[in-house]
Amino acid sequence: MRVVDLSSHDVDDVVGLFADDGGYSCRVAGRPATRQDAVDALTARPPGTDPAAKTVLGAYDDAGVLVGLLDVIRGWPEADHAHVGLLQTAAGRHRQGLGRALHAALERRAERWPEVTTLRLAVVDANREVAEPFWRALGYAPTGGATPFAAGSVESPARVWTRPVTRRGTAGPGGVVGPSLGA
Ligand SMILES: CC(C)(COP(=O)(O)OP(=O)(O)OC[C@H]1O[C@@H](n2cnc3c(N)ncnc32)[C@H](O)[C@@H]1OP(=O)(O)O)[C@@H](O)C(=O)NCCC(=O)NCCS
Repeated sequence: MRVVDLSSHDVDDVVGLFADDGGYSCRVAGRPATRQDAVDALTARPPGTDPAAKTVLGAYDDAGVLVGLLDVIRGWPEADHAHVGLLQTAAGRHRQGLGRALHAALERRAERWPEVTTLRLAVVDANREVAEPFWRALGYAPTGGATPFAAGSVESPARVWTRPVTRRGTAGPGGVVGPSLGA
């Protein structure tokens, strides 16, 4: 597997990934994913953020097929946070370590962001059965905070989860430390 930075030129690959989403879009938007969803995953940002704040990592398999995507906004909603908007892996490849590998790539990237101490995301209630065990396995915990989420026909609270950035040489998620916005 190869992890690279994606750009708006990669929209066809993202459309292919989203075609095998295991019902994710229906859960969080009430309809299958569209091409616009793929464009948004690559380009959408919270109001007021700089284009350079957005990073989209893509995981390609040995055949050159995009099998996972993670998008993150550096410095949002606070300067010391990075917000994960979406982490999605191909449904045909679930439980093979791809999600964990993409998150490891995010951690390596976050090491280049010295001001970022906290990784943050929001779990949409309609998706919590899938998302919560995964994020918990990666060391995240709910903050108790929630944010409104709306997409397609779905309006729902999204619960905020965070975990510290682990820097190499520190003691792990509990050690010393330096998210479409709903997940
Ligand atoms: C959530 C998601 C990204 C997980 O991706 P994945 O490639 O299957 O994740 P991994 O194989 O790396 O799983 C890592 C660990 O998370 C946990 N986990 C992942 N999916 C789980 C599930 N459905 N139920 C329980 N635990 C789960 C397990 O502990 C797993 O380790 P294990 O397989 O060794 O037991 C994937 O299911 C997905 O793309 N879902 C649709 C999009 C989505 O809901 N994204 C999350 C919100 S942004």
